[in-house]
Amino acid sequence: MAQYDVVIIGGGPGGYNAAIRAGQLGLKVACVEGRETLGGTCLNVGCMPSKALLHASELYAAAAGPEFATLGIEVKPKLNLPQMMAQKTESVTALTKGIEFLFKKNKVEWIKGWGRIDGPGKVVVKAVDGAETTLEAKNILIATGSEPTPLPGVTVDNKRIVDSTGALSLPEVPGHLVVIGAGVIGLELGSVWRRLGAEVTVVEYLDRVCPGMDEETAKTFQRALTKQGFKFQLGQKVTGAVASASGVEITMEPVKGGEAQTLAANYVLVAIGRRPFTEGLGLETVGITPDKRGVIANDHFKTGVGGVWVVGDVTSGPMLAHKAEDEGVACIELIAGKAGHVNYDLIPGVIYTAPEVATVGKTEEELKAAGVAYKVGKFPFTANSRAKINHEGEGFVKVLADAKTDRILGVHMIGPNVGDMIAEYCVAMEFSASSEDVARTCHPHPTRSEALRQAAMGVEGWTMQA
Ligand code: FAD
Ligand code: NAI
Repeated sequence: MAQYDVVIIGGGPGGYNAAIRAGQLGLKVACVEGRETLGGTCLNVGCMPSKALLHASELYAAAAGPEFATLGIEVKPKLNLPQMMAQKTESVTALTKGIEFLFKKNKVEWIKGWGRIDGPGKVVVKAVDGAETTLEAKNILIATGSEPTPLPGVTVDNKRIVDSTGALSLPEVPGHLVVIGAGVIGLELGSVWRRLGAEVTVVEYLDRVCPGMDEETAKTFQRALTKQGFKFQLGQKVTGAVASASGVEITMEPVKGGEAQTLAANYVLVAIGRRPFTEGLGLETVGITPDKRGVIANDHFKTGVGGVWVVGDVTSGPMLAHKAEDEGVACIELIAGKAGHVNYDLIPGVIYTAPEVATVGKTEEELKAAGVAYKVGKFPFTANSRAKINHEGEGFVKVLADAKTDRILGVHMIGPNVGDMIAEYCVAMEFSASSEDVARTCHPHPTRSEALRQAAMGVEGWTMQA
């Protein structure tokens, strides 16, 4: 029987980063992955293909809409959807192969097949041909990720009624796409198809978009999307959807009560959240019971059962690739006797729409609820010279700092390129920076990053350029 220091089940950002780190630290490591390619949800059907389509569709919309004309570029773009999909697939393949390369480089064994725990220290892997192999492991790391949450009454067939995976590969631009759920997936993938010409209606149970996001930022975001032609039906409960060969009829009713109404769509995207994936994992053989949402609890990645660890979407916390990655690395460092740690207060969130949305730390609502006295510094992109010259004036940077100590507590931004720029505040906050630290740091001109500094100046009331 093959013996390992660590057997990781799942080859997504949690699992593959853990595997690479284990290889670096000299542990004998295997990663079991059931998909044909490594990289998990993120590389295969999540972060990466969605960003490929967001990038391509943003350029298409810029060329097709007033943006290029404003810049003095007159073109009539023609959509080649098969090519747009093909370049997405090509990039994804290159990325998944990249993980294979990194596995070889770091002496990680990829065991192809579906793994199940078979009592303490044992993982049985079933290959595509049905053959079973048993691996013996001093440590088992569960990194099996998540899957879309189903909506009762709305059966995903991935033809007319699709989940995120289906929405990444629609065969045509829908005349009318109805998105159920105004969260990250709904608004990113809704943006892709809106830019390519679809009418998009978002039906959301709550009376706001992006629950949990700083309210002012979420409102500005909804306004920006509405300007792009998104329609929102908030406070609506979808009760059913009937698909035919040509479309779908959706029934919904106001959450607060009232008359039901129907909505006709060509395609429906169900994006109401994701749930942990633990099917067939043999958790019962080691006495692990997930909670009623399917989450495997952890304390510093320990499941409570000796030698069994857990990271990523399948455990608690935000379902984000970088959170899974950080946990994977920290968990392996703990296994190797080092000091692995994840700072859950500073996990940034980004929505890769146009404008982008990026947040880290506490929202205003959270600070108010906790009774923390805070100051606000805010700077609009209309006053940032680079954004202005690029005609990208939508949005703002908002910095929240402790009223007494000036320590930065939260940053919320909507605007051009903010998804990349938030990293500046992540580093600053990791070092417990004050708003003055950022305000007195020289930023290159002319860049959009100057807006980050001007917002920090605003905390002490000396914003200079607005
Ligand atoms: P996963 O990536 O889900 O990987 C788990 C892997 O385990 C899978 O490959 C699965 O096949 C395998 N597996 C499961 N059970 C077994 C088993 N028994 N045996 C063998 N293998 C098994 N996050 C971001 O941070 N940024 C983004 O821009 C972003 N965009 C997204 C867009 C979409 C459309 C979606 C759906 C998600 C997106 N996410 C994004 C979320 C991100 O994909 C996840 O948070 C991340 O992939 C979680 O990593 P993980 O390793 O925990 O799980
Ligand atoms: P989400 O949790 O972001 O949003 C789901 C939305 O659906 C919420 O607004 C919720 O109120 C609503 N909802 C729930 N039940 C509903 C119902 N019955 N009817 C109508 N609306 C309902 O989940 P989403 O968008 O599915 O994304 C799943 C996960 O994937 C997220 O946790 C996110 O972290 C991750 N992701 C991250 C991305 C990024 O970082 N850019 C991109 C895409 C996904």
